[in-house]
Amino acid sequence: MKRFFKKKSLDDLLAEMAGEHRLRRVLGPVSLTALGIGTIIGAGIFVVIGTVAHDITGPSIIVSLMVSGVACIFAALCYAEFASMAPVAGSAYTYASVTLGELFAWIIGWDLVLEYTVAAASVSHGWSHYFQSFIGIFDLSVPHALSRAPFDIDAATGHLTATGTWIDLPAFAISGVLTLILVLGIRESARFNGVIVLIKLAVIAFVIVVGAFYINPANWTPFAPYGWKGLSFFGEKFVWGQTGPGGHPIGMLAGAGLMFFAYIGFDSVSTQAEEARNPQRDVPIGIIASLLICTFLYIAVASVVTGMTPSSQIDVDAPVAAAFKNAGLPWAHFLVSIGALAGITSVQMVLMLSQPRVLLAMARDGLLPRSFFAAIHPKFRTPWKSTILTGICVGTISALLPLRFLLELVNIGTLLAFVIVCLAVLVMRRIHPHAQRPFRCPFVPLTPILGVLFCFILMLSLPPGNWWRLLLWLLVGLGIYYFYGRQHSIHAIRQTDSKG
Ligand code: ALA
Repeated sequence: MKRFFKKKSLDDLLAEMAGEHRLRRVLGPVSLTALGIGTIIGAGIFVVIGTVAHDITGPSIIVSLMVSGVACIFAALCYAEFASMAPVAGSAYTYASVTLGELFAWIIGWDLVLEYTVAAASVSHGWSHYFQSFIGIFDLSVPHALSRAPFDIDAATGHLTATGTWIDLPAFAISGVLTLILVLGIRESARFNGVIVLIKLAVIAFVIVVGAFYINPANWTPFAPYGWKGLSFFGEKFVWGQTGPGGHPIGMLAGAGLMFFAYIGFDSVSTQAEEARNPQRDVPIGIIASLLICTFLYIAVASVVTGMTPSSQIDVDAPVAAAFKNAGLPWAHFLVSIGALAGITSVQMVLMLSQPRVLLAMARDGLLPRSFFAAIHPKFRTPWKSTILTGICVGTISALLPLRFLLELVNIGTLLAFVIVCLAVLVMRRIHPHAQRPFRCPFVPLTPILGVLFCFILMLSLPPGNWWRLLLWLLVGLGIYYFYGRQHSIHAIRQTDSKG
């Protein structure tokens, strides 16, 4: 029993960084911030904003974005402290392994699959929507049977229904192309990401500046048509607030739970810590700078989109491009679609880049088979086997399951990871009070406690079925740990050696 709580020592971790299976240190503060922005601004602001403003919040989505932004800032400060102490691949998984022990670390690593793989699949849907909106400009279209996932959530009932299609082919295809790029390690010319980030930022600036001239303030009234609340717990509403189809909470807070998706990704900077040139200083800078920039831009974009179009008429597939099309600016539709496609591609790429690195950290600890998950390609120096596996999973999930379903699952899983990281900062301050902390989270214990509170409230604002799905996911994970990780982990092996 004690072994489940056996912690990895900080020294072990630092020794690993000196080992021969190290990734290459090539990233500076600007590349790290660009990687952060590259992962943050994507389907959330270009796609999800449409459904949320239309069905759940109205213009009060602007406040939803502030609330989830604040939750992320608390969590980001905690991530930054850890990232500066233990700049090894693996992010929250690694932090949990040093503070909370093997079992918790496994749970969080398994949970991060929801964040990275399932988020990449959700983003892939967003790519498909904008791709189809873009080729529509030239009167082209993807055959109906291959245009979307075979199931969707019916807006009227909140239940899964058949769409009459087979698969979302564009989503599947982009996942395949990105997998190939990641195996070849093209990202190592961080320039590729840098260029995409620049295009994305230019388009966002365009949306804000040009869109501002087309705002009609009357569209902001009523500002919160579904109210300011929306929390539930396993289906029981325990705070007043309205419910929409299927008993799902709606209102500003419910929107914050969904829009949280738009911020996912800042933490992936910490999964790249091992590839940073001066991780102790640059990783915290990358995490915090990218998050602040994005929060500001999101609030501006949401103000423009809800100001340009009445909430009930916001397009749910490609809302930003459609707002410009409806304003009589077809060329802007073209431009925004290109920016969205570039932006969403870079998000999906970083998410698919992060997943194999978390799996690598888990395999190094023996919780997953090393020969597969810790295999680094001799020439490309990338974790190629698990990159391909991630690509297959992302492609299949995005081709077959609907966006809203994936989105909620990603959010609840990621929020749980954030809660654990905030708690881990508190634990670490207790068990290693004198460890070197090049970046110290300010106002401990207040900041981590507020992080836990905010993230927990956002978890409650998601539709209740997600708690069951999360539990099921964690149970499957525990099963894998019981049958594999428990016997193969480094702690188990050390224990056997010391007995022998
Ligand atoms: N934050 C990422 C996006 O919005 C996941 O696409």
